[in-house]
Amino acid sequence: MKIYKAKDYNDMSRKAANIISAQIIMKPDCVLGLATGSTPVGAYRQLVEWYHKGDLDFSEVTTVNLDEYRGISRESSQSYYYFMNRNLFEKVNIDKSRTFLPDGMDPDAEHACESYTRIIHSIGGIDLQLLGLGHNGHIGFNEPGIAFEKETHCVTLSERTIKANMRFFPSEGDVPRQAYTMGIKTIMSARRILVAVCGEDKAEIVHTAFFGPVTPQVPASILQLHNDVTLVADEAALSECPKDALYQMAKGGLL
Ligand code: GLP
Repeated sequence: MKIYKAKDYNDMSRKAANIISAQIIMKPDCVLGLATGSTPVGAYRQLVEWYHKGDLDFSEVTTVNLDEYRGISRESSQSYYYFMNRNLFEKVNIDKSRTFLPDGMDPDAEHACESYTRIIHSIGGIDLQLLGLGHNGHIGFNEPGIAFEKETHCVTLSERTIKANMRFFPSEGDVPRQAYTMGIKTIMSARRILVAVCGEDKAEIVHTAFFGPVTPQVPASILQLHNDVTLVADEAALSECPKDALYQMAKGGLL
């Protein structure tokens, strides 16, 4: 695992965007696994800026997103479909027919999840998967206790996740209770993984997930077993990590 320590949110965003942009430059027809939430917004902004400068070309890129709320239409401003279009897809020259998210409006959960898994397999898997980190260690919407061997599946969101995401909705009652998410097996099959984390409120979970035992109670802990994971985090998010372990794990990283 490589750990890149960033000064602050902007620095973290730039470092994360650098890694994504290197992936696109090295393999223009790559498959990017993308994430939503507040954390990746700055990285997407940076990618858009580099695109406008002429430094990046998305014309051959395919994307698959981690997750989508169940029962929320694509037109709704709270949908992850809307988020991705707003923050990235409509601002770069990506072919929209090659941007995929689970279909939150498919009421048949099994069908929605199987279709999405099929899409991911048909495009040859994911070259680089971007992840944020939930306060309870969730990645995508894989909540604590989830089985590690799942592909796309329907999840019931934990109270903590509902509370954390209510800032995007008029009230807590409006937050969907379920979502379709790539499973841990899908995420672990990505050839490279980039985790972006920011803020003191994530310090404890960063420590638990990356330095604690690997357990389904902390879904992100499984990332310790992937052979190509890069964590880009600001100083605050890394503040509870043991210094020695940090340096040891940083092999090749820029600390
Ligand atoms: C949501 C998303 C996750 C994301 C997490 C953290 O639950 N499903 O993919 O990583 O929020 O979000 P934030 O970056 O806003 O802290």
